[in-house]
Amino acid sequence: MDNRVIIGGQWGDEGKGKIVDALGEGVDWVIRYQGGANAGHTIMRGDEKIVLHLVPSGLLREGVKGYLGNGMVIDPWALRDEILSLEEIGIKVRDRMFVSAAAHLLLPYHKRIDEAGESQLKRKSIGTTGRGIGPCYGDKVARTGLRVGDLLQPNENLERMVIEKVLEANERLSALYDAEPLPASGIAQELVVLAKTLGPMIVDGYEALAGVRRGTESALFEGAQGTLLDIDHGSYPFVTSSNATVGGAMTGTGLPPRCLGEIYGIFKAYCTRVGNGPFPSELLAEEGEDLRRLGGEFGATTGRARRCGWFDLVAARYSVDLNGMTGVVITKLDVLDGMSVIKAATAYEYEGTERMTFPARAGDLERCKTVYREFQGWEKPTTGCRSLTDLPARARQYLEFLEQELGTHIIGVSVGRGRDEMIWTPEGIST
Ligand code: GDP
Ligand code: IMO
Ligand code: MG
Repeated sequence: MDNRVIIGGQWGDEGKGKIVDALGEGVDWVIRYQGGANAGHTIMRGDEKIVLHLVPSGLLREGVKGYLGNGMVIDPWALRDEILSLEEIGIKVRDRMFVSAAAHLLLPYHKRIDEAGESQLKRKSIGTTGRGIGPCYGDKVARTGLRVGDLLQPNENLERMVIEKVLEANERLSALYDAEPLPASGIAQELVVLAKTLGPMIVDGYEALAGVRRGTESALFEGAQGTLLDIDHGSYPFVTSSNATVGGAMTGTGLPPRCLGEIYGIFKAYCTRVGNGPFPSELLAEEGEDLRRLGGEFGATTGRARRCGWFDLVAARYSVDLNGMTGVVITKLDVLDGMSVIKAATAYEYEGTERMTFPARAGDLERCKTVYREFQGWEKPTTGCRSLTDLPARARQYLEFLEQELGTHIIGVSVGRGRDEMIWTPEGIST
């Protein structure tokens, strides 16, 4: 078995899509297991940029099968559009992607409630992607949701169920948010049409993943969001509504722990966060803007400017420990190429004392100040580097320091957006 789980180590957008694509050659399955179209995973096919929200990044590789697990929330409109736009550029999806019947259906009212809820919170808002994620998972947990398998019902039943749900949601929208109602029968009719397109892809997850369970088929698990956005282990309430940590790969597929294999965490060589919530190593004003410009840090889903800051080792160690990461990949090293000084937060200062552990409570994290270690920049391009010895000595020293502090091997370093702009270091960095 050669299975691997790819997990965001920070606040999302670490480059998971690129790494899944880079590791996807020859795997049987690439599996998404949590989240929905809030994810935006960017892959380069030559010079062409492809952003995926629901479809697993591994599908850019021929012969790979894709799977959307029961832990996901799936907007059928978004899924259809994504499939069609991939097919337009010659990437076949329909005959090799499967969707768990137990995944939840994300319907237009979830998005409307997400938006209305956020605008009611005003300055206290979470800064969601507006994709309806929280309300859909809310319905799942409240046991009032519809599931992908419901699309397989006879048209009249499906139509009736959807109309009922939309009318209920309209009451909620009007009572809580004074918002306009949605057209119930129009939505139901559209969904009946969508069910025809998506129906052939719907499967029973236990059966579909039998080969992975038996160990005769390999799987690459593609996490969405990041550890610090996990609903349980992130800085609640400034989190997403699913388990972005390793447990999500099990509950979100129904596969047992022995199927996971290696647990790889993806970390940028610095940090970013989209949306609101504490971010101890954030750089404000010009410094933050410089990093944003150099890293092209604008959201792949919403286009929002990402908040930028230095690598946070306190948060990263938490991430490594929480997920039991067996290796990490550092991405976007090249973004730091032009910097004369690079910093990494090694500890927090909390109420006058030094603190080495990450407080997941948002209120406590908000009060943490960072203690930095400074590095002299290497000020040389790294994008052309393909081995450790190609890297400038100072870049290697920075990576060695990160590896020692993280306590796990750096198994790869990404030095550009392209699939091959990678240095693989299976033995780690430190000599
Ligand atoms: P994901 O959500 O974790 O898949 O990450 P995103 O796709 O949202 O954001 C990562 C961005 O960084 C994308 O625009 C990638 O093309 C880009 N990227 C990934 N790795 C590298 C790298 O090593 N160097 C540079 N310059 N860009 C990278
Ligand atoms: P990928 O998979 C970065 C953030 C939002 C917001 C919070 C809750 O591309 O790394 P939600 O819409 O999920 O209810 O928003 O989570 N967020 C992400 N940030 N990358 C993502 O996905 C994200 N998905 C959600 O900005 O702060
Ligand atoms: Mg992203």
